[in-house]
Amino acid sequence: MKSSILHATCLRLLRDPRLLQALEDLSHDPSGVSREQAEILADGGLCNLTPPRAALTRLGRGVSYHLAEYRRQIEGGAAETYISRLDVRHDSRVLDVGCGAGQSLVALLRERPRLGVGLEFDATALAVFTAISEFEGLRGAHPVRGNAEMLPFADGSFDRILCRVVLMHVRVLPTLAEIARVSAAGALVYLHLTDFWFYWRKFLRRQWEKGGVPFALLNGLLLQFLGLQVRIGATRSMNYQSLVAVRRWLIRHGFEIVGIEEDREHRRLQPKILARRC
Ligand SMILES: C[S@@+](CC[C@H](N)C(=O)[O-])C[C@H]1O[C@@H](n2cnc3c(N)ncnc32)[C@H](O)[C@@H]1O
Repeated sequence: MKSSILHATCLRLLRDPRLLQALEDLSHDPSGVSREQAEILADGGLCNLTPPRAALTRLGRGVSYHLAEYRRQIEGGAAETYISRLDVRHDSRVLDVGCGAGQSLVALLRERPRLGVGLEFDATALAVFTAISEFEGLRGAHPVRGNAEMLPFADGSFDRILCRVVLMHVRVLPTLAEIARVSAAGALVYLHLTDFWFYWRKFLRRQWEKGGVPFALLNGLLLQFLGLQVRIGATRSMNYQSLVAVRRWLIRHGFEIVGIEEDREHRRLQPKILARRC
């Protein structure tokens, strides 16, 4: 799929709420999706028109996920927490590590920082990010394709760094080291973690996700106690990150802990840390 076609289709979806709804409906209840809507989505490579009914393609599932997340963050007000914690100003240089389609970054960019970079290795997610930025009229948005474990930026390039729900997919220690390296003195870093308890709760409920959950628990244990992580294939890793261990790592590597998310329900499962580079 050409990125220009994907870009145009995403813009069309953002501008037409009924078409966006049709994309969402295709994954669970396609009965209300009209032939015309299905054809538009098929032209963009997002669905197949194969009988007996239209179905989302892999690309369609990805775009649907990203746009749903964007709506959840922006319309659902989920972005408010990190906007207030990161205190983005007009002279801020903002980096979102593993930005997806920029669903979190877009909220920060509305504060009109000097620079707003979204780093992501998934090309589809970045194409959706570009469309969302255009739809929102955010000229300062810079999508960058790259790996969180080897950030393609000079030391001390950023003073606001967001990393939400990404450390569960990467080699944690190299990624934290990279975040530390690109943080300027005084930079604020907001990390959204996925702790042991998140996976443990799933494990107890037998939501094992084809073995992914036990794997994440074992891999997290290796990481927490031996500093090791197992990786599947070239890039896939899955692990928990303990709040205690990440907090300790940050302090040892020149950060001061400014705050830990106070939300009692989520604190243990998905804790958030705000730290300042000393
Ligand atoms: C759960 S999503 C979170 C997206 C976004 N941070 C948010 O706030 O919603 C995790 C993202 O991390 C990205 N990712 C995973 N491993 C990565 C890596 N090594 N480098 C860059 N991005 C990565 C995935 O492609 C995905 O978009």
